[in-house]
Amino acid sequence: MTTLLTTHDVARISQTLGLPEVFKRMVGYIEADFLRWLEFDKSARVASHTEDGVIELMPIADAALYSFKYVNGHPKNTRLGLPTVMAVGLLAEVATGRPELVSELTLTTAIRTAATSVMAARKLARKDAKSMALIGNGAQSEFQALAFHYLLGINEIRLFDIDPAATAKLVSHLQNLPGLTLKVCSSTADAVRGADIITTVTADKRNAVIITPEMVEAGMHINGVGGDCPGKTEMHRGVLEAAKVFVEFEPQSRIEGDLQQMPAEFEVTEFWRVLKGLSSGRDSAEQITFFDSVGFALEDFSALRLLHDCARELGLGQDVSLIPTMADPKNLFGQLGLAVVPVPTLQAA
Ligand SMILES: NC(=O)c1ccc[n+]([C@@H]2O[C@H](COP(=O)([O-])OP(=O)(O)OC[C@H]3O[C@@H](n4cnc5c(N)ncnc54)[C@H](O)[C@@H]3O)[C@@H](O)[C@H]2O)c1
Repeated sequence: MTTLLTTHDVARISQTLGLPEVFKRMVGYIEADFLRWLEFDKSARVASHTEDGVIELMPIADAALYSFKYVNGHPKNTRLGLPTVMAVGLLAEVATGRPELVSELTLTTAIRTAATSVMAARKLARKDAKSMALIGNGAQSEFQALAFHYLLGINEIRLFDIDPAATAKLVSHLQNLPGLTLKVCSSTADAVRGADIITTVTADKRNAVIITPEMVEAGMHINGVGGDCPGKTEMHRGVLEAAKVFVEFEPQSRIEGDLQQMPAEFEVTEFWRVLKGLSSGRDSAEQITFFDSVGFALEDFSALRLLHDCARELGLGQDVSLIPTMADPKNLFGQLGLAVVPVPTLQAA
């Protein structure tokens, strides 16, 4: 039997454990897997592009477990009443290929992306960071805001979105949280002025220029989440030139990240090296750091492991028969439960 987790189950995990605990566990699982980086069979995701969006498959495996995520990115979807990003995933046993878990990953992607952002910011932002500009206030944004507030102590978030209704939605969710001040700003420049961290999480399928070099101040950390596809960026290239740039998996980030604007020799650091102590992170209080997040399969592998463990701990999920259970594994035909019939007689037309 394979365990099936629906959006309802993932919501129950968050309700039962609380979102601070879910974020904490998610960061722990992702960090544990990033520290085992060399044990994974890694590849850049397989992307299928159209004018309005992209559909991607994200596989990865270690010696024990294999996973993949199916995910899309269609910025115009919200006009059709659909999320920009939707995802499902599968976790399987490598020794036999048996699928162990099939899960929703739409909610989970938002949680794992925010957890990855915090994991990077812990090493790359200044230790005294207290304020964050949050540009793009759509589906991912509350997750980013809360993960930074709960796990990094960010207590002031400055908001901007070209759609005021998206900002109003975010404010309605988070306005009564004691210890968190929200400031609605009139422009990106207004929001980022004086912020310790900038998170960009916009959706637009073009080379957008959300952050320009003159907006960036010494010591800022930039968490760029929405530039994650060829022809879909958020930074002016001057921002990358001014910063020390960190990526997840370099071969994928060169194609998909804001890094796509830079020449092949432009220097970047894979974040796992910082975590493992093989490369430095932030080198000074004045340095500008940029985490060019695109979303890597390993984060979903970690997320699926966490969901599986939480489902077992809380007794959630449904056992479903996706693979036949057979006393004689060669007797696949018997699973149809059919009596064979003679070739049907063809009627003359
Ligand atoms: N790096 C990752 O791992 C990862 C994971 C998930 C999503 N994403 C990306 O994050 C982005 C946001 O995803 P979402 O699910 O929140 O999308 P969404 O469509 O729900 O929200 C995006 C918001 O960006 C706003 N926006 C667009 N252009 C803007 C601009 N110029 N200035 C300010 N705001 C602007 C839109 O009005 C919208 O409210 C997408 O591009 C998605 O592909 C990345």
